[in-house]
Amino acid sequence: MTVDRVSVALFGAGRIGKRHGRTLAFDIPAAELSIVCDVDETAARQLAADLRCDRWTTDPADVFSDPSIDAVVIGTSTNAHASLIAAAASAGKHAFCEKPVALDLESTDTALDAVTKAGTILQIGFQRRFDKGFAKAKQMIDSGAIGKVESIRESMRDPGPPPPGYLPTSGGLYRDMTIHCFDCLRWLAGEEVAEVFAMGSNLVDPIFGELGDIDTSVVSMRFESGALGVIDNSRRSAFGYDVRAEVFGSEGAIMIGYSRDTPLLHLSPSGVSSDHVYWFLERFDDAFVAEMHAFIRSVQSGAPPLVTGADGRAAMALAYAAEASLKSRTPISPANF
Ligand SMILES: NC(=O)c1ccc[n+]([C@@H]2O[C@H](COP(=O)([O-])OP(=O)(O)OC[C@H]3O[C@@H](n4cnc5c(N)ncnc54)[C@H](O)[C@@H]3O)[C@@H](O)[C@H]2O)c1
Repeated sequence: MTVDRVSVALFGAGRIGKRHGRTLAFDIPAAELSIVCDVDETAARQLAADLRCDRWTTDPADVFSDPSIDAVVIGTSTNAHASLIAAAASAGKHAFCEKPVALDLESTDTALDAVTKAGTILQIGFQRRFDKGFAKAKQMIDSGAIGKVESIRESMRDPGPPPPGYLPTSGGLYRDMTIHCFDCLRWLAGEEVAEVFAMGSNLVDPIFGELGDIDTSVVSMRFESGALGVIDNSRRSAFGYDVRAEVFGSEGAIMIGYSRDTPLLHLSPSGVSSDHVYWFLERFDDAFVAEMHAFIRSVQSGAPPLVTGADGRAAMALAYAAEASLKSRTPISPANF
């Protein structure tokens, strides 16, 4: 069955909720933003007003009991994801949910079971897969342009630590941040990871250590074919947000990523300079819009989502393996989780 216009409820009126809200309200003709829900009344009311949406609420029941709503977009703090996914599935509503699916694997599995039972669509917000550079690289790898993939490395560095209020419900570096890289490497390689070896440090801000977290990390991985992967992360990058990858194959390599914000270079006697993209919202602006278009298309057509709940679970299992490796100082298989 095809749906002409998809009525969507947005959960979460914070940083990412605002980004997805703008896309739903203004960028996708086939979508209609029907209501904004946030536990913070001021945030819900303000975002609804900014997006010219008539309805806002602090009560999720207003969404789940409304038969006119086809789908929900979940951009709340991570600790609320799993219960909202399950509630959406039980109400027969399709869901897009930000990464990670949940803070732990048990809640992830419970939420995914509810979706399977309901037969609804669930897409996870790994927007990197929709970035022009990463998507083109994947296409080239799959077409054999660089032969057999032998190693992949990716850097992901935030300009600075997230707001202090974000950290306690974030799940820590591997579940919150590296999870993007775990998904990305697994997707680019097109195969599963056999083992993970992680090293981490506290070099950026004592707050991470106080919360039992790390802020700097290198993770090495061996894929089932023997291909290798390396991910390095930092919660602080003096020059701005930085996401770059290189895929090295038997017949060539691909370098992915850019750093300029304005398409301008200043050439002078002292050298060549440009500005630098500051944050994920600018770097992945197009990808955030593209992933939402894909979700709405899936809901309209009934086609499976391009990033599934199982992808979300696989990335979380890799985060668990990295945490276990960090603790035990040995390589760990994600199949243990
Ligand atoms: N894909 C990406 O690159 C990316 C980037 C940033 C954040 N995220 C994810 O998005 C989510 C939100 O992050 P953020 O930076 O927007 O956080 P944020 O703190 O700015 O906003 C979260 C909002 O959710 C609201 N909220 C919390 N529990 C709720 C509930 N039960 N029902 C309704 N609203 C609730 C809070 O009041 C707040 O307004 C996190 O899961 C994070 O991992 C993804």
